[in-house]
Amino acid sequence: MNRCWLWCLMVVFVQQTVSGKVLNRKDVPDSAYLFSYATTKNNNHDGLQFAWSRDKETWHVIGEDFSYLKSDYGPWGSEKRMITPYLYKDAKGLWHCVWSLNDKDHIFAHAASTDLINWRRQSYPMLQQGANCLRPVLQYNPDQDMYNVTYADANQKYYTVATHNFKSFSSAKEIPAASYVNSTFNIALPEGRVNGQLNRVPWAVIDRLIKYYEQRQYKITQNGEAFSQDTQRFAGLKTLEAAITVEPQKAKPISDMLVGVFFEDINYAADGGLYGELIQNRDFEYQLTDKKGRDKSWNSTHSWKLTGDNSTFTIDSVSPIHPNNSHYAVLNTQVPGAALINAGFDGIAVKAGEKYNFSVFTKQLNGHAGKLLVRLVSDKGGVLAQATINVANTQWKAQAAVLTASASATDVHLELTPQTSGRLALDMLSLFPQKTFKSRKNGMRADLAQAIADIHPRFVRFPGGCVSHGDGLANIYRWKNTIGTLEARKPQRNIWNYHQSAGLGYFEYFQFCEDIGAQPVPVVAAGVPCQNSSTGGNGQQGGIPMSEMNAYVQDILDLVEYANGDVSTTWGKKRAEAGHPKPFNLKYIGIGNEDLITDVFEERFAMIYKAMKRVHPEITVIGTVGPFFEGTDYDEGWDVATRMHVPMVDEHYYETSGWFINNQDFYDKYDRSKSKVYLGEYAAHLPGSKTNLETALAEALYLTSLERNGDVVSMSSYAPLLAREGHTQWNPDMIYFNNSEVKPTVAYYVQQLYGQNAGNQYLPSTVALSDTHTAVTKRVGISVVRDSQTQDLIVKLANLLPVAVHSNVDLKGISVANQKAVATILQGNPAGKDAKPVESTINVANKFTADLPAYSFTVIRIKTK
Ligand code: AHR
Repeated sequence: MNRCWLWCLMVVFVQQTVSGKVLNRKDVPDSAYLFSYATTKNNNHDGLQFAWSRDKETWHVIGEDFSYLKSDYGPWGSEKRMITPYLYKDAKGLWHCVWSLNDKDHIFAHAASTDLINWRRQSYPMLQQGANCLRPVLQYNPDQDMYNVTYADANQKYYTVATHNFKSFSSAKEIPAASYVNSTFNIALPEGRVNGQLNRVPWAVIDRLIKYYEQRQYKITQNGEAFSQDTQRFAGLKTLEAAITVEPQKAKPISDMLVGVFFEDINYAADGGLYGELIQNRDFEYQLTDKKGRDKSWNSTHSWKLTGDNSTFTIDSVSPIHPNNSHYAVLNTQVPGAALINAGFDGIAVKAGEKYNFSVFTKQLNGHAGKLLVRLVSDKGGVLAQATINVANTQWKAQAAVLTASASATDVHLELTPQTSGRLALDMLSLFPQKTFKSRKNGMRADLAQAIADIHPRFVRFPGGCVSHGDGLANIYRWKNTIGTLEARKPQRNIWNYHQSAGLGYFEYFQFCEDIGAQPVPVVAAGVPCQNSSTGGNGQQGGIPMSEMNAYVQDILDLVEYANGDVSTTWGKKRAEAGHPKPFNLKYIGIGNEDLITDVFEERFAMIYKAMKRVHPEITVIGTVGPFFEGTDYDEGWDVATRMHVPMVDEHYYETSGWFINNQDFYDKYDRSKSKVYLGEYAAHLPGSKTNLETALAEALYLTSLERNGDVVSMSSYAPLLAREGHTQWNPDMIYFNNSEVKPTVAYYVQQLYGQNAGNQYLPSTVALSDTHTAVTKRVGISVVRDSQTQDLIVKLANLLPVAVHSNVDLKGISVANQKAVATILQGNPAGKDAKPVESTINVANKFTADLPAYSFTVIRIKTK
């Protein structure tokens, strides 16, 4: 509708801002000067930019602050800087860019490109010489067929390293200052003077750069399409007619695993979330380092306090229950009466009449081992439950009691009062509702688990996300630390800046999957930490040392044995000891999570992948293709997967609702002979990370395209899944919660409608709308699937328009078994957050009508013969 007009306006605007004037065809030069540079703006985060000139005097910036290459080194914020980029075209026509990263590391960065637009993987070669690496310069030495990178350091010394291939480098050697030749120019751009390199290039090179910039601007406009513009965009649009014709003869099989869930311990999703434990910091293992020292109160005493007089509460680590859990509390009571109190996670919620299992390890250090009074106390309602346990003498001993709440309350705390004086050691204090999901011991919070189960997810991904690969090598999630008795598990810092108790570990995860009838999809680190790591090794450069990789690979193979091995195997036996002799039937494993695809990554990924293929060919391995739907990691990840014939890859994209509306053909173009896709993380949002019915409808519409491409897209999971109110590190999330309420978002209901109405056959259909403008047609989506088990035909219809669509559906000969069908509709004000699916019964036949309200998603489930 208004799109052509918008496009023309934008092109004119772009041409004016890009080139300073509109070039007529006859003005186009054969060649021109291309100037490459980076600015110091935005803490050097803006990357490689270009300007062009015919005469080296009048310069035209190609998109102000528009970057063609960004540095991927280190964490966001302080790193990912491109300082003094040096662009160089080699004798084979390949462009190389080297740049300095910061003023402390002995590292520079390198990337190469054939067209200055698509850049291959970055590498960050380590240098042994110099105080740091500043102003690197690249030259090619044809006599030796060698590239030389020379650089300066903070002490005004100069060094050089040589390489054939940018993979292995000679060791750096010092050179005289005169040998450091840096052909950098300083030119005046409209924004000020900048340093960079000058290259004379054919006009086609510049033209391509300009067109690329223009295309990006067009996409930004498209992706910014929001329903708030609909009054203008669809002014005068009236109720539409749609003729929908299903084509059963063209039915194709699709994945029956399409909708699953992504579980990561982010936003307190595990401790203080799905994991049923009600005591916070039960093991006194919170550390300052969990929050990188930013919160002084985040230490072993967090969530605990002492009330009353004549007593002290300290933390000790002299003789712990287990070395993995080295801290414990020491309560020194002079005169009985003082109490140690735990505040839970924003308080503890209990329900009248329900039973709670309390347990603790105690050891009397001196004085008389007496009794410990355990109470649940509500701020407003007083004591709601109490029990007394015996304190152990001299050796750590586990004690337990059951507390029954006399009333419901959400403001409860746990109170422990020694009844005798003396020094008492306490650790692993736990309070669990007996009513966990499926009454599992050490199980899941029932209401949250039920909300997840109600999606009917075909799989559950775990433990992330970034939690899988961690912040630095030491923080990589090691599954073996998360099994066995709770006191022997190894808690650690959570990458999202809090603490992970490992109480919800691999056993609990596998069991939960079984309880909800979902396949487990564990994701393990590919031998590299998160690409934004801030601790140790500077991101991907710090891959697990190759000398330790065999052991790491074995750990991953052991995970498969833990899940599936016979009880006579080492790890199968451990599973049996945990209470599950039968295998968990693991079929998938993800290796890597949106990693930076470097040589460091590829070497390690290949090792794990090959071992997995050799030892467990029955397991489907899922590779990784970066954090975005495009870009270097996406291209390089796909390249690795294609070369290695990885069966499936994990794609991630968090985009605007406009992106989802405008990219419904994303998978239509995918090569069916390559890896299958697991869309492992996605969500639509509006500016400011907002979600509402609009974003949910964009997801519903996009999911029609996933079903259509269910032959190449095997799995998908919205992310993140859970978020505790007041503790979110990431928005949007699918389900918010507090201690007593579960608050599903509209996005949840979309997932649920897809999960509960999945099929394993896709029936193509055509839609003829009474208005054929693209802006209209792309906002109406349909997907028809059949569940071959029930023979139900499921018609999903998304209408993202401000007007109703009256549809005539022709099932083209499919025999309807029951003329009553259930239609479930999600609709409302697109800006609203409260829409919920509403069911009704409608009449259906081989040909039937369905009215799609404005801004709605409709699912019709039809019984067929
Ligand atoms: O889903 C939240 C985070 O998004 C995941 O941990 C990470 O993989 C992605 O960047």
